[in-house]
Amino acid sequence: MIIKRFDRQEELDRYAAHLINTIVREKQHPVLGLATGSTPVGIYKAVIEEASRTKLSFGHVTTYNLDEYVGLAPDHEQSYSRYMNDHLFKHLDLGKGNTHLPDGLAADPEAECRRYDEMLAQQPLDVQLLGVGHNGHIGFNEPDAQLHGRTHVVKLKEETRKANARFFDQAEQVPEFAFTMGVGSILKAKMIILVARGGDKAAIVKKALQGPITTECPASLLQTHANVIVLLDADAGRDL
Ligand code: GLP
Repeated sequence: MIIKRFDRQEELDRYAAHLINTIVREKQHPVLGLATGSTPVGIYKAVIEEASRTKLSFGHVTTYNLDEYVGLAPDHEQSYSRYMNDHLFKHLDLGKGNTHLPDGLAADPEAECRRYDEMLAQQPLDVQLLGVGHNGHIGFNEPDAQLHGRTHVVKLKEETRKANARFFDQAEQVPEFAFTMGVGSILKAKMIILVARGGDKAAIVKKALQGPITTECPASLLQTHANVIVLLDADAGRDL
C-alpha cells in the first residue's frame, strides 16, 4: 500500500487525475470504476482539465460507478447519475452507452444487481476510485458482521443518511436504500485509489489503514489488496 500526503488539495487532485488519465492513455479498452461524494469533485475537474490540455480522448473508455440511490431517477438532482453527468461525463467525449450506474428506478432490484454484476464480470476494472465514509463504508458497503461480495441493495445506516443529508433539501429526502457494488467487485479492481480529505476523516483513515481487517470497517479490507494507493490531505492523514 502506497500512502501519499498532500499539503494542497489541487496537488492531490492533479495527482489522482494523472493516475486515471495515464490508464486512459495507455490501455486499449480502459475500464474505470468511479465514485461520488464530495471527495472526488476536484479530481474530476483535474481529469477534465488534463484531458483537455493533453487532447486525451475518452471515446474508448468504459465506466462503472460504485453505487446509486434506490428510487431516484437518473436525472434527479441528487442521483449519482446526475452527479456523474454534471461533474464528469458531459465534459468528456465518452461514447454513448459506455457509462454505467445501477438504475435507481429498476422495477426488479435483484435483477438489476445481477445485470450490473454480469457487465462487471465481462469488463474488469482497471482502477477503482474510492472515498470513505466516516464509519468506514466504501461505496455503500456499510459496517456489518458480514459483507456482500457482489452488487446488492443495502439499507443505509442512519449515520450515512445524516452525512449525505447535506446534499438534499431535507434530511428525510435521503433515500433509505441504495444499490452498491460489493466489496468483492471493488477488491477485484487491478488498482484502487483511496482518497480522504479533512480532519473528520482522520480517525477512520487510521482505523482503515492501520487497524484490524474487519467487516466492521469495510475500508480495512483494502489492506488485503496488492495495489492500493492512498491519497490524503494533511488533515486526513494526521493520525497515521
Ligand atoms: C457516500 C458514498 C461513498 C463516498 C462516501 C464519502 O455515502 N456512497 O461512495 O465515498 O459516502 O462521501 P464524501 O466524499 O462526501 O465524504
